[in-house]
Formats: sequence, C-alpha cells, structure tokens
Amino acid sequence: MAFGSTVISSILISIFALCLRGFYQLYLSPLSSIPGPWYAAISNIWTLIHTFRCRKVRAIDALFKIYGPVVRIAPNTIAFLDHDLEQRTTRLVYNTLKLDKGPLYGAVHILTDWVCSVAIIEHSVHARYRRIFASHYSPGNIALLHPDMRATAQVLVQKIMEASLQQPLDIFPGIHLAMIDLILTSTFGHNHDALGSWSEDSHNVILSSIEDYGRLILLGGILPKWLMNIASCFPNKRWQTFCASGDTLFNIMGKMVRNMQSEKDAGNLDDRDKPTLIQRFFSHNDSCAPEDRLSYEDMTSESMTHLLAGVDASAVAVSYILWQFSNQPLNVIKRIQAELDSVMPDPMIIPDLKILQALPCLDALFKEGLRLHGPIPTFLERLSPQSGPLDLLGFKIPPKTVIGTQSWSMHRNEAIFQNPELFDTFRWLDEAKPQEPMLQSLAPFGMGTRICIGQHLARAAIKIMLAAIIRNFDIAPCEQTNARTMEMMELFGMFPVGLNCKLNFNPRV
Ligand code: HEM
Repeated sequence: MAFGSTVISSILISIFALCLRGFYQLYLSPLSSIPGPWYAAISNIWTLIHTFRCRKVRAIDALFKIYGPVVRIAPNTIAFLDHDLEQRTTRLVYNTLKLDKGPLYGAVHILTDWVCSVAIIEHSVHARYRRIFASHYSPGNIALLHPDMRATAQVLVQKIMEASLQQPLDIFPGIHLAMIDLILTSTFGHNHDALGSWSEDSHNVILSSIEDYGRLILLGGILPKWLMNIASCFPNKRWQTFCASGDTLFNIMGKMVRNMQSEKDAGNLDDRDKPTLIQRFFSHNDSCAPEDRLSYEDMTSESMTHLLAGVDASAVAVSYILWQFSNQPLNVIKRIQAELDSVMPDPMIIPDLKILQALPCLDALFKEGLRLHGPIPTFLERLSPQSGPLDLLGFKIPPKTVIGTQSWSMHRNEAIFQNPELFDTFRWLDEAKPQEPMLQSLAPFGMGTRICIGQHLARAAIKIMLAAIIRNFDIAPCEQTNARTMEMMELFGMFPVGLNCKLNFNPRV
C-alpha cells in the first residue's frame, strides 16, 4: 500500500515538474517570444522524432514556411533563414562572430577521445588546429593531385564500359571507391586501388565501414552512451560488424600511419614530390612544442575523419548529378556533351582541370546538382556568443543558445531560385536571372570558419569524374532508379533512400 502510494506520488511529482518546465519554456524563457510550435519549445522530442525519420531538414523547412525566418525548433535551439540577398546574418553567425559549434558535433567522439577537426567545439582551439593542415587542401596543393584524379576517372570509365553492356549499372559504389582511392592518395601517397576491384558482387571493407560508421555516429548522437554500450552486446554478426565499424576503419588507417612513420624513420619520405596529409602532421610534430605534438591516434583519427567526411558526400553528389542529367531534355544533354566534345576530342584523354573549370555548362551542372542535392544541406549548429544577447533578424538571442541555418532551405528560397524544386542547369547561365544572389545563397560546403576543408578536392574530383563519364557515355534512366528510390534521406549527410543509383551507360559512338 505504502509502496503504491509512493509510486503514485513520484509519478504526480514528475508530471508536475514536467508541466512547470513546459510552462517555463513557453512563457518565461528568454526564447519564449520566438515563433514556433509549442511542442518543439517544451522538449527535444520534436527534433528527435524528425531525426529518427531522417527528415529533419524538411521538418525545419516546413516550419520556416509556417512561422517565418526565425523559428524555435527545441527548447534551446533556434533555426533561421536569411532572406537578405547578401546573406549578412548568415555571414555574421558563421564567420564574423567566430562562434563555437553546437553540442551535436560532440557525437563524432563516440569512438575516440582523440583529436578530430569536425568535432572540435571551441572556435579558438579549432582555428589553431586547422592551421596544421589547411594548406594541404589549398587549390595549389590539390592541383598536384589532378593527374591522380584524371587517372582514377579513366579507370572509372573503363570499369563502366566493362560492367554496363546492355544492363543498368549501380554507379553509387563505383564513385565511392574512386573517392576512397583519391583521399587515401592525398593522405598517404599510395593509390589503394579500391576502384580496380569494383564489380557487382565485390565487397570493400573500407567502404562498408565508412557507411556503417556514419550511421553509428548518428545513433551515438541520439542515444545515451550507456544504451549504446548495452546495444553493442547484441549477439548478431551483422550488428557486431556495424558496431565495430569505427574500430575497423581506425585499425586500417592506423596501420597506414604506422607504415608511414617507419618510412619516415628510414629516411624514405623526403623525396616525395607531393607532400601527403600525414607528412604535414609529421612536419608539425617536428617543429612544435612537445605538448602540442599529435599522437599516432590523433593522426589516425584526423585522417579517418577526412575519409569519412569526403567519400560519401562526393559520391552522393556525383550520383545525383548523373541521375538528374539522365533525365534532362535532349537539347540540354546535347549542349553539355557538345561542350565536352570540344575539349575532349579523344574521349579517354581528360584535359587539365583549368580547361574543365572554364566550361560554363559543366559548371552550371555542378552548381545545380549541389543546389538541389547538396549532400550536407543540414542544420549546422553554432552556440550564440557568451558576450551578450545577439540580434538575430530582429530577435534577441541569449548567450549559449544553439543557433543555425541549413542550405536545404537557402537553396530552395523562392525569392532567389525561381521554381526551386526544378533541376534547371541553365538557370546558372540565364542572363535574365540575377546571378549574384544565387551565388551568395549557394553554400553546399558550409560557410565561414568551419567551411569544408576538402572543398577544392571535391570540386576538382567531381568535375573530372563528370566530364569523363558524360563525354564517354549516353546516360539513360532505368526503371529501378526513380524519384522514389532517389528521395533524399538524412543522416546528417543525405543519401538516396534506395541506397543505389542504377543507370544505363551506353558508350557514345
Ligand atoms: C561534395 C563534397 C562535399 C561536401 C558537399 C562537403 C560539405 C561539407 C560541409 C557542409 C561541411 C561543414 C560542416 C559544418 O559546418 O559542420 C564540411 C566540413 C568538412 N569537410 Fe566536407 N564536404 C565535401 C567533401 C569533402 C572532402 C572531399 C573532404 C576531405 C578530403 C572533406 C572534409 C571535411 C572536413 C575535415 C570538414 C570539417 C572542417 C572543419 O570543421 O574544420 N569534405 N564539409
């Protein structure tokens, strides 16, 4: 009896506490004047539900349409959409104010406590750290990798020729493997030849670990650590492989780091014409104070982050662009191919990137692809400044509030992109449309101080692959790949719900 009444009182007290909390969030909190649905203001459940549904960007976008450009999406989280043609508020938040990242990024640390640029929260710590290897991804340094990119694109074309005679080919794994080769070459100086072993039934452990680990990180961001630890004990082989994917990748990359350390110790690294990412870490260690040195684990963790951040995003982008290209009207396809024909008389000889960069149609296709199918169009959270309230599009935001915008909504802003859901390559070449606001609103690689460090690598690799494939093949859609299978789902990065992209590749005569 006494036990029963204790349980009932505990339940009543909990309900009362929840009601008080809800009342505070709705009427007394400094954020209570910000528009938004009441259920999002009182708990994180709204955000969690849409994260689990893999549709958080869409849910936030829908709130902008109902409540306007500043919306409260969780008790301490505000999303904004900057309608200013020059994106002044967006610049303020992501650049000028040099804000720390929001708490979600801590989830990247589910495997390790070692350094990894994406997950560093504090701006000042990150700025010092990024300087160690930022020059590795400068356009000048990436140019040294262009010959590798061209060689990889040629292998890709040959593989498609071999594989796709008379039948649709899933291009999705092929682009992933090509990107693995390029990023490992940039990191370690060796081509891993993952693409060389691509076939319909081949399995690449690096690729499957990248895919699994991306999903594991997301789960780690939602579920508490103790629940993750219990769940990881579930005795199912596939599940165990999934839970161990981070360790698997770490061990593979760690072995490569150790091999390079041995090469360095043997004096075999100095004559390399292209400094690798790992050599940048070594140079840093040779010149910095002992307490600032990167450990073997730090170097492994950072290089693994670049692989994780770069492979999937680039492969998703290329696959969507090829799919959209295959569905374009014939005159659009012919115009893009004619442009490529003019600089690639021999279809297997890919010209210098400078020549490809100057092609307006290829550039327009690239931009339109990243506008409508940017692989990371998600809410990029930052913490409002400690120093005092921030004026965010007319609303006062107290310190330490999570704030952010998302390129999904920026790229679909009707005031800037007419008919935004239409894949219209030539909107970027139409002189009647003001180009500057469109360019200002195009942010597939993020913005400001935490902008994608690999963007020049990604731009070059994507354009080279697109040029090689579109020059060599007429690409036609196939029944298995359609708007339903290509619907974009979100796990921080986007992916097609069908997890493949089957297309018909017919060699051009
Ligand atoms: C189409 C391809 C790519 C897209 C759309 C993309 C997009 C992004 C975005 C939006 C961010 C910012 C995330 C944030 O603010 O939290 C980011 C960060 C990052 N990206 Fe990329 N990325 C791509 C390719 C790559 C490649 C190829 C690499 C590496 C080789 C890479 C490495 C990184 C790293 C390390 C960060 C964290 C930067 C930092 O916080 O300092 N990405 N990327």
